[in-house]
Amino acid sequence: MGQPSAEKPGISRPWPKITLTLLLLLLPLLASAYRVRGVSAEKDDAGQEVSGKSHHHGPFHSHGSVLQKMRAMQRLKAVEWEMRLEPLEDLLEAYKERHNACVNSKTLPGKYLVVRFEDKDAGIGNQLPSVVSGLLLALMMDRCLFVEFPFFNKFFDHELDFSWKHHAKRLLAHGHNATAPENVPDRIPFGYVTIADVWMFKNMTAYFEPHYGVEMWKDLDWSAALLVNNPHHKDFIDTYFPTRDIFAPLAAFILKIKPKYDKKIKDFKHKNFRLFNIGMQIRRRKCNGDENELLCELRPTIESYCTVARHIQLTHGIHDNDVRFFLAADEPETYTQVMNILGADRVIYTDNGIAPTSSEKGVINSADNPGTLESALQDMALMSQCNDLVMTVASSFGYVAAAWGGYAPVHMVYGRHKYSQNPYFWRAVSSEPCYWQAKNMMRELDARAVNQFRSNPVWMQYTQCHNDWNLEEEST
Ligand SMILES: *[C@@H]1O[C@H](CO)[C@@H](O)[C@H](O)[C@H]1NC(C)=O
Ligand SMILES: *[C@@H]1O[C@H](CO)[C@@H](O)[C@H](O)[C@H]1NC(C)=O
Repeated sequence: MGQPSAEKPGISRPWPKITLTLLLLLLPLLASAYRVRGVSAEKDDAGQEVSGKSHHHGPFHSHGSVLQKMRAMQRLKAVEWEMRLEPLEDLLEAYKERHNACVNSKTLPGKYLVVRFEDKDAGIGNQLPSVVSGLLLALMMDRCLFVEFPFFNKFFDHELDFSWKHHAKRLLAHGHNATAPENVPDRIPFGYVTIADVWMFKNMTAYFEPHYGVEMWKDLDWSAALLVNNPHHKDFIDTYFPTRDIFAPLAAFILKIKPKYDKKIKDFKHKNFRLFNIGMQIRRRKCNGDENELLCELRPTIESYCTVARHIQLTHGIHDNDVRFFLAADEPETYTQVMNILGADRVIYTDNGIAPTSSEKGVINSADNPGTLESALQDMALMSQCNDLVMTVASSFGYVAAAWGGYAPVHMVYGRHKYSQNPYFWRAVSSEPCYWQAKNMMRELDARAVNQFRSNPVWMQYTQCHNDWNLEEEST
């Protein structure tokens, strides 16, 4: 692929007056279409708005019909968010009341669920699903959620106080020592077979009923993938998550970045985003780690990532002037390579590529992840606000970004790509994150449990992440 700018001449004449007038007339209408009630409010600025507000970026070069399509897509997105959030509104309102009652109670407050982690081995792509799963369970089990992730408490803010440390103190003031042996919260069991048994077969509300406190400890996966199959909770899922996007609407409620960090994200976006922004998450490290894992020699090429990203641009008819490729990679060479292929002025990134790794006080940076937690959060949030994403398969950093943004990303697949059974990309059918333990879990489950897991129409998507990438390829 050559320099893209040479391939597709744009229409650079200014918009005819009539288009401008029409646009001005339509603005108030569009603005009201974007407005989504309640928790979705902050999603309104998710994409670069196709409106007068973008004039500081200069005139668009894309064709008028392309701009019309972009506006239609923004409306579609707003409607999609409305569809996901509306069923949850009353439940979340009721939750806020319950939570405030837990926090302000004059007597021993209502039952709680605490999400915790004491491991240095997980990045934000694993911690965020854990927090969101915790919210899901707290909603389902009528409990108050508290969180003890240093990362979450440092970077996220909420009108509700989710801090477990604060709550443990409150409990103590009510004479309840949560670490005393008789009060230690009941841990949601571990190990694939028991995980599956509890999340897919038990009435979890009844199962944990006898316990005042429940602890979700080190559950660093998207366990909602199992809950969807649970007959006891079918009504709950059907009622509140009819589209089966579970992560996206709950994340919109609970993942609110502190203004101090969010300002940097907004500033970057304002300066660098254009009409259409394609995230590119390229992981080159984390291969050859263990025998079941990805092999470095089977990594998709940088060219193939660029081909897919460029193809997405072309399918939307976007002029080179109006597209930006937001790159988050873990090796410096990747930045140079992508800029060479897609054009240096169209590739954008934070921190001059990779922020220097630093150990932030009180915050753990996980094994072999580049940059700082802050730079990782910034990249993930920006990816979540892109219009599309081309990501490295099995990377929770990528699929959690897409889940947060509420859209289905393209996964770049490892392999030799010699057969049509092994294409180098696939696109997910929903925004839901992967359940990365799925393949190992399914190997250990009996036929009844495997069938139960497969009864979920989205099960295939939930399994396409870790493990086994190389085995089938080699046996072909
Ligand atoms: C709470 O219980 C733990 C474990 O028994 C004990 O070590 C700790 O001192 C107790 N805290 C208070 C404030 O009583
Ligand atoms: C699950 O358990 C709760 C609490 O015991 C109960 O209220 C609910 O009806 C049960 N749900 C089903 C589907 O059995």
